[in-house]
Amino acid sequence: MNKTILVTGGLGYIGSHTCVELLNNNYNVIVIDNLSNSKESVKDNIEAITGKKIIFYNVSVCDMEKIRDIFRKSKIDAVIHFAGYKAVGESVMKPLLYYQNNIDSTLVLCQVMNEFNCKKLIFSSSATVYGNNTNVPFREDYKVGGTTNPYGTSKLFIEHILNDLYISDNEWGITILRYFNPIGAHKSGLIGENPNGIPNNLMPYISKVAVGELKELSIFGNDYDTVDGTGVRDYIHVVDLANGHVKALSKLLDNKGVSIYNLGTGKGYSVLEIVNAFIKENKINIPYKIVSRRSGDVAVSYADSTKAKKELGWMPIYGIEDMVRDSYNFYRNNKND
Ligand code: UD1
Repeated sequence: MNKTILVTGGLGYIGSHTCVELLNNNYNVIVIDNLSNSKESVKDNIEAITGKKIIFYNVSVCDMEKIRDIFRKSKIDAVIHFAGYKAVGESVMKPLLYYQNNIDSTLVLCQVMNEFNCKKLIFSSSATVYGNNTNVPFREDYKVGGTTNPYGTSKLFIEHILNDLYISDNEWGITILRYFNPIGAHKSGLIGENPNGIPNNLMPYISKVAVGELKELSIFGNDYDTVDGTGVRDYIHVVDLANGHVKALSKLLDNKGVSIYNLGTGKGYSVLEIVNAFIKENKINIPYKIVSRRSGDVAVSYADSTKAKKELGWMPIYGIEDMVRDSYNFYRNNKND
C-alpha cells in the first residue's frame, strides 16, 4: 500500500516542488494550505506535471477542529510541515503575528498528530538558526541561536519544541531540515517562487528586473570579507531540496528520534557571481547598483552537507547554471501573475 503524506503549505514554493517529487515517488499526497501566500492554481499545475491527483483542503493549520476532521477522514502516515510566514522584514514589524502563526500551527499539528497516533514529522527549518556564527561551513552540531529577526527565532523555538516533544514521548520520529538558499524552479515553468509585492530575496528580485517589472537590483554591500566583497550564500535548486525531503521521509518512516540535516550544496556563491551567472546563462542584462549593507545579513553562509549525503544518500545534482536558467524560465512564463 502506498503511504499517505500530509503536506502543510503544499501549494507554496518549496511545498509544491516537494508534492511533485512525492507523487513521482508514488506517495499519496494530501495538501493543507490557506492560500495566504499561494494560489489554488498551483494544485492544477502539480497535477499537470505529475499526471496524478492530490487531495486539497483550504484550511489554516491553526484551526484544530478542521485539522482533526482531516485526520478523521484519511489514515495519514507522516506529515511534512511547510506552512508558515517567512518574510523576514515583515516579521520585524509584526512579531506577534509571526510567533502566533508559526508556533501555534506547529502546536496544533503536533497535538492532533498525537491524538491520531501519527508520530512522523518533517519540519522546515532554516540556516537562519545558525545566527551570526562565522565558522563556515555550518554543521548540524553547531550551537544554534543569535537569530536576527522574529521569523528566524520562530524557527529556532519550533526546533526546541520538537526536541522537547521527543523527550516526552520517544515514539516520535522527527526530522528537522535546515534549508540554505533555495532558488530555481521546476523545468516545466509551471511552478516556482512568486512572492507578493516587491521581493526581499535575491533571485526573485533579479528575475523581476530581468522581465522588466523592476528597474535595477540593489546589491547590499560590497565591503564584506569575501571573494568580491558581496555576501556569499549556499544556493540550492528547489528540485534538489524537494528530493531531500523524499530521502528524509523514506528514512523517517522506519525510524524514531530527532534527526537534523542541512540541505545545501556545500558551495557558496557571492551576489555578484549569481548576477553574472544569470546574465551569462540567460543572455540578458541585469542593471545593478551597490548600496549599503542590509541589517541582519551575515557575510558568508554555506552548509556542511556531508551528514545528509551520508545518512540520507542525498546528493544535489543541479548546478548554478540550472538554477538561474530555471528561475528565469518560471518568471518569463508567469510575468505579472
Ligand atoms: C534570507 C533570510 C533567511 C531566510 C531566507 C529565505 C535574512 C537575514 N535572512 O536569507 O532567514 O530563511 O531569506 O527567505 O534576511 N541581496 C542583495 N539584494 C537584494 C536581495 C538580497 O544584494 O535585493 C543579497 C543579500 O544581502 C545576501 C544575498 O543577496 O547577501 C541573499 O539574500 P536573500 O535572498 O535575501 O537570502 P538570505 O539573506 O541569505
